[in-house]
Order: sequence, then structure tokens, then C-alpha cells
Amino acid sequence: MKAEKISTFDSIKALEDRFQLATYKKMPVAAEAGAGVWVYASDGEKFLDLYGGHAVAGTGHCHPHVVAAIVEQAEKLLFYSNLVYSQKRARAAEKLVSLAPSTLTRSFFCNSGTEANENAMRMARMATGREKIITFSGSFHGRTADAISATALGKYRELGKPNVPGHLFAEFGDIESVKKLADETVAGIMLEPIQSMAGVCMAEPDFYKALRELATERGIILIYDEVQTGIGRTGEWFFAGSAAGGRVVPDIVTLAKSLGSGVPVGACLVTEEIAAHIKENDLGTTFGGGMLAMAAVTATLEAIENDGMLENVKEVESYLRERLSEIPQIKRVRGLGLLLGIEFKEKAAPVHEKLLERRIITGTSSDANVLRLLPPLCLKREEADLFVEALRTVFSF
Ligand SMILES: Cc1ncc(COP(=O)(O)O)c(C=O)c1O
Repeated sequence: MKAEKISTFDSIKALEDRFQLATYKKMPVAAEAGAGVWVYASDGEKFLDLYGGHAVAGTGHCHPHVVAAIVEQAEKLLFYSNLVYSQKRARAAEKLVSLAPSTLTRSFFCNSGTEANENAMRMARMATGREKIITFSGSFHGRTADAISATALGKYRELGKPNVPGHLFAEFGDIESVKKLADETVAGIMLEPIQSMAGVCMAEPDFYKALRELATERGIILIYDEVQTGIGRTGEWFFAGSAAGGRVVPDIVTLAKSLGSGVPVGACLVTEEIAAHIKENDLGTTFGGGMLAMAAVTATLEAIENDGMLENVKEVESYLRERLSEIPQIKRVRGLGLLLGIEFKEKAAPVHEKLLERRIITGTSSDANVLRLLPPLCLKREEADLFVEALRTVFSF
């Protein structure tokens, strides 16, 4: 097919469907461009993006500071591996560590969330000499072998058969269920501190505190999968160390999604104690720490800082919660910052579809009644208003 023939939505769809595996249920939108919280489709339609392309567009689409840094780096050097030093990598690592809780002093860069989690579990095993990993009901940690084996949500683990042995599952929020499993064979306890795909489920601060105490007491490495909650999503740089999480700091934090504003990049942040167990060639990846990704990381963190996005997240969260409280069809709003799960008294999928007809992109979750919002951290009150008004219209029919 010639290029000029695929400018309409139908022709783009036909070509993608013909040459790609049908692994995702797609929205009837062909994204062409983006700016801030807006996505522009091939037919010129404009969408309010409250899903951020799977939580990736933390700084918004095409933040000028991030784009400039990527363009500048692309013209200089796209990539060189970890076999050489790089000013860009040095700066990105320094900046990321400087924003993290003070005990997380070392970084390892990779390319995705699942890879960050694989490496985190491996480090826990290396640091303890043990093998088992405890994760939780409702968890999602990725789709590579070890990460999918650590995932309890839905059918994922089944898809990863044969699973990596040594994965144990406790009940999210129930410390007694963890205590029963946490013996001297367990290397790590890994959790999403807010379980996003499960429907934006959060535990009480006491749960995180009890996990920290238990892990320390039994010599187990505590891992926070902050692939979604990290990099400002909750109104803090990390859930680790936050008041909502009882100020608990784990031994390892994993990151991805919004870390590079759309340039694929993942990371593990670890303590000195963990770092002491990791030797040359213990971990590795070709692309991890490449210059383009590192330029994107530093610029992403700077953009969040320069634009005061953390403050904005908190401000817009409380505004949105207040406005959503006016809507009687909403049972409650779960989550923190701009990782929100709106629990309806009815199914969320039809609401999601009707919002899309009104050109607002939202997300669903494995909880059928929960609509998920993961918008750019620069979402403004006026844009939140557009969403609330659209919701009102949806419910008025
Ligand atoms: C909490 C969490 N961990 C890990 C992953 C896997 O990340 P990736 O898709 O970058 O491998 C995801 C992806 O949705 C996630 O939400």
C-alpha cells in the first residue's frame, strides 16, 4: 500500500491489523501528534488524554524541554553501551538518586518495567543467597518469565507457563498472610504499593510499615514496583518514603513508564547494602543506559521540577476529588495523586466508551466497576472540568 493511501483512520487500521499481531484491543483512534494533555488523531480530532498512553506521558505529550534534550542528543550520539562512560548517563543517575529517598543511592538502567522487576528479583536473590519471592493477590509485574510468574492478576501467570519456580502469593493488605510465607528461604517481597491494574488498590500505612519490619527482621529484601507510582505520579517523587506509605523505604525501587516521557527506559534504585552484592557482569543489558534514554530521563526529571508538577498533582487531585463527589453514580475514588480509580455503582467499560465518543481517553482495570485515570502530571483544573462535565453528560442519558 502506498503512503498516501493510509492517511484515513480506516486505512491505517487495516494496515496495522494486517501486519501486526492482534495482541491489544485498540481504541478507534490513530494517534498522530500530542501536546501536553492533548492527543491529535489522524483525522484531525483532538482527544483529552487522561490515560497518558499507559501512564507513560507523565510530563505530558512532547514536553518542549524533553523534546529539545532528545533532539540535541540524537544529533550528537544516539547510543553507546555501558562499556564506556557517558556524561549523560552520569547526570541521569545522579539526578535520579538525588530525588530518591536517601538510602537508595545506586541505579541500574534497563529498558522496561518488566526488565527492572526481573533485575530487582535477581538482586534480592544475589543479596540473600535465597530463591523465593513473595508477591501479592492482584499484582501485575510484567510479562517476561520471572515477572509474569510473580504476577497474580488475571490470566497472565497462566500465559507464562511453565512458570519460574519459587513464587509465593500473599494477600495484599494482610500482613498475617505474608508472615506465614516469609521463612528463611524467601529472598524478596515485591509489591506495587498501589496496585494499578487491579483497580487502583491501596493498603493502610500500617501494612507497609509492618512489611518493612518483617522484611528487616527476617533478612528479606523489600522491593517496591514503582513502575506506575514513581516519578511524581502520586504527588511525591516516589511512593517510597511518602506519608501515605508510612514513610517506609524499601531496599529496591523499580521504575519505567514515565521515567523517559516515552523514550523506553527502566531503572532499579538500590541501597548500598544491595549494591555491595552486585559484581561486574552480574547484571547487564545492551540498551540500558544509552545516551538518548539518559537525556530523556534527566530532561523528564527537570521538566517535572521546573514546572512544579508535584504540587500540581496534589492540587488537581483534591480539586478532581471534590468535583467527582458531585456525581451520584460514583461510589468512591481510590488511589493517590493522579493515579486514580473511580469506582462506579455500575460497570465502567460503557462509561469509558461513552467518554471516548466525547474524545476523552481513560483506562479501565481488572475491577469491572473501576475507571482508571493516569493523566499527565500537568493536567489543569480546566481540563479536569472537561472530564467531569463529560461524565455528567454520560450519566444524563
Ligand atoms: C506495576 C507495573 N509493573 C510492571 C509493568 C511492566 O512494565 P513494562 O510494560 O514496561 O514491561 C507494568 C506495566 O503495565 C506495571 O504497571
